[in-house]
Amino acid sequence: MSEFTNKRCVVTGAASGIGQAVAHRLIGEGARVVGLDRNEPSVGVSAHIKVELADPESIDAALAELDGEFDALVNVAGVPGTAPADVVFAVNALAVRHLTEAMLPRLNPGGSVVIVSSIAGLGWPARLDTVKEVLATESFAEGAAWFAANPQEGNAYNFAKEVTTVYVLTKALALNEKGLRINAVLPGPVETPILADFEQTMGKDTLDGVKALLGRHAVPDDIAGAIRFLLSDDARWINGLPLIADRGIAASIASGLIPAPEI
Ligand SMILES: NC(=O)c1ccc[n+]([C@@H]2O[C@H](COP(=O)([O-])OP(=O)(O)OC[C@H]3O[C@@H](n4cnc5c(N)ncnc54)[C@H](O)[C@@H]3O)[C@@H](O)[C@H]2O)c1
Repeated sequence: MSEFTNKRCVVTGAASGIGQAVAHRLIGEGARVVGLDRNEPSVGVSAHIKVELADPESIDAALAELDGEFDALVNVAGVPGTAPADVVFAVNALAVRHLTEAMLPRLNPGGSVVIVSSIAGLGWPARLDTVKEVLATESFAEGAAWFAANPQEGNAYNFAKEVTTVYVLTKALALNEKGLRINAVLPGPVETPILADFEQTMGKDTLDGVKALLGRHAVPDDIAGAIRFLLSDDARWINGLPLIADRGIAASIASGLIPAPEI
């Protein structure tokens, strides 16, 4: 018997990579997992709801199909920086906020939200005021309009992950009142189908350099373990944490041991 037995969980991106690994773990511990993805998962969910996360109406339709209360929401789905900037921003930032805001009233006390961000979004302190402007928008459509009117320097992927990370930081305190928690996991490179796209946008040499330092890239289950921990009761006092899961790369950059890559 696991603490996840019979827990009701929603996992986005459950058809591939990290989301699939999370669903697999939770199902293996007896949870009921509803996967939200534009693709049909080939393995390991209790139910699948097809959704296009770039479209708020599709998200609302998926929400209408979800019945009852839940114990966990894991936002994993995301697109790489090779997709058009408006899509990257919509899926990686606006959809995460839209779905989370709609699900919070439906989470049972003791429940929690985990959002997969990225170490690519660690530059948020330098852009905090701008990020807060985005978060001050009140809807998906308003957020998309803001982004269209305020193109950001650098790639949309990094900016979207900055927004997502700061969203987690700004939600934590208020969620305590409801007995809920929210945390983020910030992976470094992970062997999934989108890694090839990251090689294009971030530079293959950069990613190969990281791989050489660590001996290998992460595999999806390495990240699923960190997500499981944040969902678990052992993490009950952890709220608003951007948990870096990169085996020390960001730490080495922050402390000046290795140079920051241009990504
Ligand atoms: N792979 C990496 O190196 C890496 C590193 C840091 C962060 N991340 C983040 O991890 C998350 C998961 O990525 P992954 O590596 O598992 O990639 P993946 O491509 O294996 O999985 C992404 C999943 O999201 C779904 N998805 C994408 N866009 C969607 C949309 N518009 N509507 C519905 N579903 C959609 C896909 O169908 C897929 O099942 C992403 O948020 C990504 O930014 C990945």
